Amino acid sequence: RRPAGLDLPDRIFGDRRNSRGFDLTDATELARIDAARDVAVPDATPLVAGVVSGQTRAVWNPATGAIVAQVTEADADCVEAALAAAARWKASPQERAEVLRRAADLYEEHFGSLFATLTQEAGKSLPDAVGELREAVDFLRYYADQGAVRSDAARGVFAAISPWNFPLAIFTGQIAAALAAGNGVVAKPAEQTCLVAAMAVRLLHEAGVPVRALQLLPGDGAVGAALTGDARIAGVAFTGSTETARKIRLNMVDTLDPGAPLIAETGGLNAMIVDSTALPEQAVRDIVASAFQSAGQRCSALRCLYVQEDIAPQMIEMIKGAMNELRVGNPWNLSTDVGPVIDAEARDGIEAYLAEHADQVLHRLETPQGGTFIPPVLLKVGGIAEMDREVFGPVLHLATYRAADLDKVIAAINATGYGLTFGLHTRIDTRVQEVSDAIHAGNIYVNRNQIGAIVGSQPFGGEGLSGTGPKAGGPHYVTRYQCPTACDAAI
Ligand code: NAD
Ligand code: ALA
Repeated sequence: RRPAGLDLPDRIFGDRRNSRGFDLTDATELARIDAARDVAVPDATPLVAGVVSGQTRAVWNPATGAIVAQVTEADADCVEAALAAAARWKASPQERAEVLRRAADLYEEHFGSLFATLTQEAGKSLPDAVGELREAVDFLRYYADQGAVRSDAARGVFAAISPWNFPLAIFTGQIAAALAAGNGVVAKPAEQTCLVAAMAVRLLHEAGVPVRALQLLPGDGAVGAALTGDARIAGVAFTGSTETARKIRLNMVDTLDPGAPLIAETGGLNAMIVDSTALPEQAVRDIVASAFQSAGQRCSALRCLYVQEDIAPQMIEMIKGAMNELRVGNPWNLSTDVGPVIDAEARDGIEAYLAEHADQVLHRLETPQGGTFIPPVLLKVGGIAEMDREVFGPVLHLATYRAADLDKVIAAINATGYGLTFGLHTRIDTRVQEVSDAIHAGNIYVNRNQIGAIVGSQPFGGEGLSGTGPKAGGPHYVTRYQCPTACDAAI
C-alpha cells in the first residue's frame, strides 16, 4: 500500500520486479550453479582508504572443519584510519542509484563465488544461499529506487553493524540504504562472516562506490563498540541480538549527537498458533520450514508452537514424522535440508540449553559426525512464559492449549515483550482478524510459514524488544537514513 504523503515512484509499489533467482528444480540450472560455485574463496582484509593493519586468522568451514580462507581483522589504528577518511557520498541521487543497480548486476554475475563463500563460511544450504543473493540484490535495486527520488539529505557517516545469519542480505541492505541516501558507511560485519562481506564490498567498489564512502572493518564486537562510541558517526544501522542493541544504545548516548538514529533490528521469541480447524498437512509443512530451515538460525524462525489440545496428539506424530525426513549434514550437498550451526560456541550454547531441558525432549534427530551440528529437536513446554531466551538454532518448543484459553495464549505471547514474527493456522476468517489485531508482532503470517519476507512486498521488522523500525524492504526504510529536515519535507 502506498503510504500517504511520500513522494515515491510507482515502481516501488507496482511496476517493480524482484530478481529472478534460480530454478533449483531444473537440472541444467543446477549443473551451471555447481560448476560456478566450485571456486576457491578469497581472503578478506579491511577495505579502507588508508593503511591496513591487524591480525590474520583462519576461517573454518562449520560443516567440515576445513580452513576456508584467511581474514585480517582491523586493529585500533585501522579503525582510526577508516574513521579519519570516512566521508559522505557526494554523487547525485541519480548517479548513486545507477551505481547501486550496477552493484546488483555484479552480485548476480558473481553468484558462484558468493554461493561458495556463503556455504563454506556460513554453512548455508544452496536454497538459502540463493535466497540470500536474491534478497541482497533486491535491497540494492529497491533502495536505489527510493534514494533516487529524494533530495540530497545525507546525515553523514553511518556505522553498519550486521549479524552472521544473513551475512550477505542484511549486510548489503544496511549499506545500500545508507548509500542510497547519500551517506558514507563504515561497515562492521559479524566476526564469523567477514569473507562474504569483503566479497560484497569489493563488488560495490567495482560498481563505482568510492572507497571513502564505503569502508569495511572486519573484526569483533570491540570494533563495533569503537565505531558506535565515536562522535564522527552520524547514525548506526544495527541488526543482531537485543542485548547488543542495548549496549550500542548506551555507547551512543555518551558520545554521539543526541539526534543520531539507531536503526536496530533485533531478536525474537516467535510463536505460531495452530487451532483445530487448521489443515494438518499444510500446518506441519509450514511448522517444519519455520522452525528448522537455515538450521533455525533466522530471527524470524518459529520458536514456540501452540497447538490446540484436540489435535495435538496427531500433530505431534506428524511433526515427528516430518522431522525424520529432514537430512542433516554438509550443506554443500544438494540433498541437505539442515546444515550446521555457525560455530562451536553456538553449538555448545544450544547443547547446554538442551541438557538443561533433557526431560522435555519429545523428539531429536541423530547428530552427524564432525562439524558444528545441532540436529532438529522438539521440546515440550507448558507455554512461552517458560522460555527465558531466544535459542538461536533448530529447537522447536511445543505447547498445547484449550480452545477456551486462546486469549491467555495471546497474552502470554505478548508478555514476552518481543514482537517479530507470528504465525497462525486456522480456517476461521473471523479468528484471523481477531488474533492479528491482538498479537503484537511486526510480521504476521496466516496459513503459511513465517520466514522469508520478500523485499518490497513484505516489509520486515519487529516491535518492542525486536526492533526500532522502520521495516527493512519497506517504503520508509531509506527515509530514516536521511536528515530530519528531509524527512519532514517528505512526509
Ligand atoms: P550479535 O548481537 O552477537 O552480533 C551482531 C553484530 O554486533 C556483530 O557484528 C557483532 O560483532 C556486533 N557487536 C557485538 N558486540 C558489540 C558491541 N558491544 N558494540 C557494537 N557491536 C557489537 O548477534 P549475532 O549472534 O551476530 O546474530 C544473531 C542475533 O541477531 C539473533 O538475536 C537474531 O534474532 C538477530 N537478528 C535479527 C534480525 C532482524 O531483522 N530482526 C535479523 C537477523 C538476526
Ligand atoms: N528477513 C528474514 C526472514 O524473513 C529474516 O526470514
